[in-house]
Amino acid sequence: MSSVGIDQISFYTSNYFLDLRTLAQVQETDPDKYYQGIGQEKMGMAAHDEDIVTMAANAAYPLVQEGAGEQVSSLLFATETGIDQSKAAGVYVHRLLGLNENCRIVELKQACYSATAAIQMACALVARQPEKKVLVIASDIARYDLNTPGEATQGCGAVAIMITANPRVLSIDPEVGNYAEDVMDFWRPNYRKTALVDGKYSTKIYLRALKKAWEHFREASTYSFADFSHFCYHLPFSRMAQKAHQHLAKVNKSELSVEALEQQIQDTLSYNRIIGNSYTASMYIGLASLLENHQRDLSGKRIGFFSYGSGCVAEFFSGRVVQGYQNCLFTSEHQMMLEQRKEVSYEEYLHLYKAPDPQDGDVHEIAASGSQGRFRLSAIAHHKREYVAI
Ligand code: HMG
Repeated sequence: MSSVGIDQISFYTSNYFLDLRTLAQVQETDPDKYYQGIGQEKMGMAAHDEDIVTMAANAAYPLVQEGAGEQVSSLLFATETGIDQSKAAGVYVHRLLGLNENCRIVELKQACYSATAAIQMACALVARQPEKKVLVIASDIARYDLNTPGEATQGCGAVAIMITANPRVLSIDPEVGNYAEDVMDFWRPNYRKTALVDGKYSTKIYLRALKKAWEHFREASTYSFADFSHFCYHLPFSRMAQKAHQHLAKVNKSELSVEALEQQIQDTLSYNRIIGNSYTASMYIGLASLLENHQRDLSGKRIGFFSYGSGCVAEFFSGRVVQGYQNCLFTSEHQMMLEQRKEVSYEEYLHLYKAPDPQDGDVHEIAASGSQGRFRLSAIAHHKREYVAI
């Protein structure tokens, strides 16, 4: 059977960010606690006329140009920032992108993990109908309470991934390692806008899940630690990936130096450092970061992925970079988008942070919003969200 995997990958984040130096100054904290300690520099802040739908549509738009959306048979939308208890956010995206009417659409949830469930389901669907494409979108806005340890790890972003047969970017191996455990390390009850988290405990569970998922992967796969050139981890903050990678190296009794281990993950971290946690999207933005920033040709290299969603469900899987992948990336578009973002003051950050949940009757003046994206939330009328394409 032909290989199945990632044919294209594109991401989007809001054009507003807060520099964590500004946060540190207000909190009278050493900025190095953020820049070094958790390895984060900036965090993306969604504007009032942005949500998971607008970010998702902005991320996916480049993948469906010139009729490329015609063969999309399913749109799988992963998020933990749902905007409706019933209607899948992907249905709005389907219309905004002009996808065909014979499309299956569903929303998936399991904290930061669900994009990986979507990827695996997409691979299975394409294996059954290799002429079809499945569009996987992960879109989230990470919010914690002000003046809590989690505050500096907020962020927002969406990633869109086209899964096809004979993919041009990454062929995904069928073997996986899974781990699940009922724990309360991070959760967000329906009546709360911000997440509740036991921060230190969550990092401990993340590492335990990594070891368990890896052990399960090893039972299924012939690949060992030494077979991977790079590793993409779920990125709540970039220091977490460094800790995880050292942990995995130790579990495998690897003799690689600290520097060599760092090289296996450092290019995956570049975008996350300046976007922040984008929950379901973050590991895949890490993959885009690796492919777009690594100076050497990665063709033929095998990459390991550790996907973690609090609560918790985790998965280790792998993939092989396809020859010529560079021609299918959106490197300059992504880098331009990140360069053109606008830094906000602490007061502006609070204004964005404290915006009330969208209410019926809201109208967003597009000209005044300052958002850069092509798709916006323009109003809520009769309890129905209205989106526009600009
Ligand atoms: P904290 O408790 O304020 O930080 O928050 P800390 O005091 O532990 O410091 C962090 C690190 O900075 C430490 O290094 C300090 O030594 C260092 P470490 O011991 O970890 O190596 N440090 C400094 N370094 C340089 N200069 C300084 C300085 N000061 C301190 N001046 C915590 C940390 C992670 C708990 C917090 O950010 C948090 O609660 N975050 C949210 C939860 C989270 O991200 N958990 C990660 C695992 S769970 C997960 O990934 C799932 C998730 O994405 C959700 C989902 O699945 O949906 C969150």
